[in-house]
Amino acid sequence: MSEEYVKIYDTTLRDGEQTPGVTLTPSNKTKIAIKLDKLGVDVIEVGFPIISQGEMEATKQIVKQNLSCEISGLARTEKKDIDAVINCDLKYVHTFIATSDIHLKYKLKKTRDEVLQKAIEAVEYAKSHGLMCEFSAEDSTRTDREFLKQVYKQVVDAGTDRIDVPDTVGYSNPKYIDTLIRDLRTVVNVPISIHCHDDFGLAVANSLTAIEAGASCAHVTINGLGERAGNTSLEEFVMASHCLYGKKTQIKTKLLYEISKIVSNLTGVVVQPNKAIIGENAFGHESGIHTHGVISNPLTYEPINPEMVGRKRWLEAGKHAGLHGISAMLEEYGLIPSQEQLKEIVAKVKDLGDKGKHITDADLLAIASQIMRQEGLEQRIKLNDFVVTTGMNVVPTASVRLIIEGKEFTTADTGLGPVDAALKAIQKITDKLANITLREFKLESITGGSNALAEVSIKVEDKDGHIASTSAAGEDIVVTSLQAMINGLNRIMHKQAMNRNKNKDKELRKFTV
Ligand code: KIV
Ligand code: ZN
Repeated sequence: MSEEYVKIYDTTLRDGEQTPGVTLTPSNKTKIAIKLDKLGVDVIEVGFPIISQGEMEATKQIVKQNLSCEISGLARTEKKDIDAVINCDLKYVHTFIATSDIHLKYKLKKTRDEVLQKAIEAVEYAKSHGLMCEFSAEDSTRTDREFLKQVYKQVVDAGTDRIDVPDTVGYSNPKYIDTLIRDLRTVVNVPISIHCHDDFGLAVANSLTAIEAGASCAHVTINGLGERAGNTSLEEFVMASHCLYGKKTQIKTKLLYEISKIVSNLTGVVVQPNKAIIGENAFGHESGIHTHGVISNPLTYEPINPEMVGRKRWLEAGKHAGLHGISAMLEEYGLIPSQEQLKEIVAKVKDLGDKGKHITDADLLAIASQIMRQEGLEQRIKLNDFVVTTGMNVVPTASVRLIIEGKEFTTADTGLGPVDAALKAIQKITDKLANITLREFKLESITGGSNALAEVSIKVEDKDGHIASTSAAGEDIVVTSLQAMINGLNRIMHKQAMNRNKNKDKELRKFTV
């Protein structure tokens, strides 16, 4: 790799997996590792092999994939930890020991000299086994500066290839990180990595500052997963580095959203909607002023083109909406209201928004149809029948029968629960017509009690970036979920048809000019 690139050391599978409540099976770890390699990370820290059989199995499985990036494993400065790394056929160890007085006194119960000795011995042991070695002085940022410099200098003398500087409890600001990295550069001549935690929301800023100060690599995780408040988020660090600092990485940024979704699904950690780059709202617009601006020129209210990170912009109706936004949304469905009708539609949308209602595309279309006195959208797909089986010791299964343009289609699928199974069965049938991904699924009870009325809101997206949000309400959550999904599919297909017609018109105009 050329030196001008900032290196990305991804620790989603190690520090990210230390997120409370997260554990990944070897097969899920392997799936993520393959995606990380495709994304273009330089190093994947696959785990901490000594901790369990499953961790070793996962590490071995990943090593067997022959990925093109480097693969490292974590080890304390203990021979048995380093042996576990070697036994997994890894060629790269990340070894660490804490150096701050607070860790020495209360955790390790060791003197500074003892810690220094262990660090040196671990590096020598790793090097004598031919490993690539990266050494971290855990809690570097709260370590006495002179002692820290002594530790790093001596591990470099002992042969470590790289050092990493962990801000273990995120207790630093960019100014402090700047001086720390510059200071360490006066005593070490090997590449320096930065490893930040986000306890004060400064992990990305601190990591970027470290790079400015001369570090060459950032330890990061997908979606900022990690202990407590998490680690530096890969997507935020990479995009800020590319766009705001003019420093490139090898990351293929168009794949960022996809991997974020995969990691979120496999770990069960939902990404907050307002998270930069990958949050659902990062490229969504509701307010009238913003949608107007974005429709005229996206750069008015978007710092980057969403496609750079594999996203699409979307507009939503709500109480902040304006004429331009609503008109653009209706146009996607081929509805062109008169100015008077448009004003009436917007007024109705604002009224519902004021009452606290979340307005889906289906609601907007219902309002528009009523005001424009048009028929609703054509229902090309209809739910004819379905059966689900579920229980304690059975795999939830669903068999679904749909009518698509008069023809009947039946298929079955399994899932994590009856809703999952039924939605998958629908997607199996409609895959060729509209290959969609379920972006959002929200189930809320409208009334109380076990016979509560439920509302299911979903957002679906097809591979061309058409997005539709719909909802359905009813007593049975499976029926309601299926109905919401069918509504979404019908809207997506309508948008696809509109797009085809627009393109045909364009072609025709070209031909007749
Ligand atoms: O945050 C930390 O200090 C770590 C070490 C193991 C490097 O994750
Ligand atoms: Zn960490």
